Amino acid sequence: MIQQKIRKAVFPAAGMGTRFLPATKSIPKEMLCLVDKPLIQYGVEEAVAAGCTEIIIVTGRDKAAMEDHFDSSPELEAALAAKGKQALLETVRSLSKLAKIVYTRQAEPLGLGHAILMAKELVGDEPFCVLLPDDIIDSTVPCMKQMVEAFEATQASILASEVIEGPAISNYGCLDCTPVAGNPRLMEVKRLVEKPKFEDAPSANAITGRYVLTPRIFQMIEGVKPGAGGELQLTDAIQALLQHEKVYGYRFEGTRHDAGDKLGFLKATVELALKRRDLGPAFREWLKNVPL
Ligand code: UTP
Repeated sequence: MIQQKIRKAVFPAAGMGTRFLPATKSIPKEMLCLVDKPLIQYGVEEAVAAGCTEIIIVTGRDKAAMEDHFDSSPELEAALAAKGKQALLETVRSLSKLAKIVYTRQAEPLGLGHAILMAKELVGDEPFCVLLPDDIIDSTVPCMKQMVEAFEATQASILASEVIEGPAISNYGCLDCTPVAGNPRLMEVKRLVEKPKFEDAPSANAITGRYVLTPRIFQMIEGVKPGAGGELQLTDAIQALLQHEKVYGYRFEGTRHDAGDKLGFLKATVELALKRRDLGPAFREWLKNVPL
């Protein structure tokens, strides 16, 4: 079998971001900042660290903010150069050199499966990764790099998974899976259940916002029946993929923050700020005096 390499990463970023209204009325959720970086940048940097050279962002309204963010900015660069702000200049310049970034549009937010389908032509006939920009994963080895390595070993689709204890599993897609001998992080998926009742959940292994998918997924999405609100669910398409190919769950090393949720966003802000060399010490001191 020819070993396929992952080169492309798809970022669905066309959702409504209703949990963050009014902030997301005119700003895409993916441009909300954790400390000083928009959510989408964390994901793009992770994909680049995993070896991706082409980034495909699926946008809805307001794509200009994202395009401008990853584009060069001659006026800003000239102003920073004139003021001798070399470090900031490098930060700004490096953004436009991260990877080849292309945009495609999802006219209506018809679900995650539908958003990924919008990237079909741009991806073509090769395996690719998907990163949901509101899941921020803080890890020693970038999460997507861990998953690409798992793909290289299996040549099969890989779903990032996290153990969610208790009734909270009902908020996630859930894996019915068996362990794989020799790799404690890998699980062979038998079945997927979207948002199960706690008592019906086949395991505590939840699916989180990182995927490596084989190109057959596009055919599977096209065959999925729309659910509530006409949405095409990615979980249904992966379930259909299981009839043709193996699919694995991968328990990544790292901490996931759900930055698409207000409380998760606050927690991520605090944890990431505490880890920053420039801000961490002063922020920690200040936190000690916050009346709780
Ligand atoms: P979410 O369900 O978390 O995003 O989708 P949302 O719908 O924008 O958020 P709320 O619930 O209204 O606050 C996860 C990711 O998938 C994208 C979103 O932009 C987000 O990055 N998405 C979701 C799409 O691109 N298209 C869709 O139709 C749905």
